[in-house]
Amino acid sequence: MYPPVPGIARKLKEDVQIVTNNYVLPAGTTVVIPMLSIHRHPEHYKNPNVFDPDNFLPENSQGRHYYSFIPFSAGPRSCVGRKYALLKLKILLSTVLRDYRVVSAVPEEQFQLLIQAPTASGSDWSLGSGDHPTWINFF
Ligand code: HEM
Repeated sequence: MYPPVPGIARKLKEDVQIVTNNYVLPAGTTVVIPMLSIHRHPEHYKNPNVFDPDNFLPENSQGRHYYSFIPFSAGPRSCVGRKYALLKLKILLSTVLRDYRVVSAVPEEQFQLLIQAPTASGSDWSLGSGDHPTWINFF
């Protein structure tokens, strides 16, 4: 629901032919892969804004697009730390949840997203601020 990496981008060095359609993305284009939006796309999940682990049961995953859940990206440059990260997260969560009940002080419908990215100049670029963060929708 809230991928730590909400999107990635690439600047194309050469023209790219889309294999599933007759489109060519010209060299120089910046292509954004918006994980956050893909994971909440109604074409892939019938209740896209509801946390429902049953979405990933084999019977519910059948026929779903191979790249409809890509928190660690996909393909040859995907995350090399994926297995380690998942193991670490399970250990951390199970340790905390054994002793604590975790509740949010802010209702989910009031969650706001702050996106930050480093710039070529070295300073942080951000959308939104602590008081006025901005929801980014990549649709
Ligand atoms: C929840 C934790 C993590 C998430 C969600 C995550 C997600 C990602 C994503 C989306 C990418 C692709 C970035 C891009 O293409 O621009 C990536 C790449 C990478 N990740 Fe992770 N990552 C996580 C943890 C880790 C850990 C723990 C390590 C190392 C121990 C790691 C090492 C790397 C490396 C080296 C790459 C670059 C791979 C390449 O360019 O060939 N990641 N990760």
